[in-house]
Amino acid sequence: MRAGGAKFITFEGIDGAGKSSQIEFLVRQLVERGCSVIQTREPGGTPLGERLRDLVLHEAMDLETEALLMFAARREHLAQRILPALAAGQWVVSDRFTDATYAYQVGGRGLAEDRFRALEAWVHPGFQPDVTFLFDLPAEVAAGRVAQGTDRPDRFEREQAEFFERVRAAYLRRATADGQRFRIIGADRNREAIAADIEAEVGTWFR
Ligand code: TMP
Repeated sequence: MRAGGAKFITFEGIDGAGKSSQIEFLVRQLVERGCSVIQTREPGGTPLGERLRDLVLHEAMDLETEALLMFAARREHLAQRILPALAAGQWVVSDRFTDATYAYQVGGRGLAEDRFRALEAWVHPGFQPDVTFLFDLPAEVAAGRVAQGTDRPDRFEREQAEFFERVRAAYLRRATADGQRFRIIGADRNREAIAADIEAEVGTWFR
């Protein structure tokens, strides 16, 4: 239980899963209920984290360098924003967190799982989000959405459908391993249906 009953909530899923508008929806729901909320994202969320984001999204680099930079940005994000906000009783809603490193770097790129576990245990021992919404949908459907939404794809958005199917499978493995924390959202549906699922979940937090 965190200060004032606030929660750390994360949104995950492959590129094109449609998280963004639902993050806005959740934040509005929480604010309407009188909660103090910070909305943030990874990689990013701090001035240094945003500079690291720019590098990992656009510069070619070694797989382990990529994983280390994700965790470096995360350490800064935890120290500067996430942990102070939770200590002050604020809700934190983040577009991605460590599950994304498991899905993309371990699942998608093939980073050794023990390397990932070591970094996770170093950067946030014993700490995880309270609730994680995993937006799940076939990679082909998500790819169509990404193609429509951007004309300058980043290093991840340029990957093929097979990469995103591996990322998707890794997310689902992580969700199976921690069923208490994850809410799997069928993301191949319209916005209203997805928002209804989120609203129902929010209702359970305030009963
Ligand atoms: P976004 O497009 O959802 O803002 O995320 C940026 C990209 O970074 C997205 O393609 C997923 C990727 N990513 C990783 O590969 N590992 C990570 O740990 C995080 C947080 C994001």
